[in-house]
Amino acid sequence: MRLDKFICESTSLSRVSAKKALHRGDVTCNGDIIKTSGFKVTDSHTICLDGVLLSVIGPRFIMLNKPIDTICSTIDEIYPSVIGLIDVIRAEDLHIAGRLDADTTGLVLVTTDGQWSHKIMSPKKECAKRYLLETAEMLSSSLIEQFATGLQLNNEDGLTKPATLVLLGAHQARLTITEGKYHQVKRMLAAVGNRVTQLHRESVGEIELDPTLAPGEWRYLTDAEVKSVK
Ligand code: URA
Repeated sequence: MRLDKFICESTSLSRVSAKKALHRGDVTCNGDIIKTSGFKVTDSHTICLDGVLLSVIGPRFIMLNKPIDTICSTIDEIYPSVIGLIDVIRAEDLHIAGRLDADTTGLVLVTTDGQWSHKIMSPKKECAKRYLLETAEMLSSSLIEQFATGLQLNNEDGLTKPATLVLLGAHQARLTITEGKYHQVKRMLAAVGNRVTQLHRESVGEIELDPTLAPGEWRYLTDAEVKSVK
């Protein structure tokens, strides 16, 4: 890799700033100052900027416990974006793999790897998402069959894919869906004459929200969690 590219890939510097740092003599390779942008960096090279060892920032995979009143768009609108909670360099490279509504809490996956997030979001992959929900009206056991069969949502062709509803109380349930239509859970409950009052995502595929993460906290995924997305 060219040295100027290596600096960009391992810092938050732009290509222009990387070249300036090189020309100033701020960059060393195995202890020697290098000023050539096109210098080819190999595994045997130790590159430092201002004496600090650089290494390429690889793809990043993060889980975040989304607090209420934050949004999953990358731009702050009425509410702040969850990306602002993730204090890493090059946060602008991150994107969200499957959004939640502003009033939904829980597991949000954030990454720099577009192929990985595609596997989570592609309808063909039918990645399971499990939610804990509370409702305004009472839930009856007849819903279990209705959700398993599929519901007709407003402005959608065909029924929803089979979903698993587990009743936890008169107004509380766990719902697992394998689609990600706009406001899907709220619309599914609306389709049976109910209304979601609280919604929390517990898992995506095999990745469970880490119970040690308080709302607003995040951590990197383990290798096993990353590899569980197929
Ligand atoms: N379904 C919804 O209605 N809202 C969410 O945030 C996620 C799934």
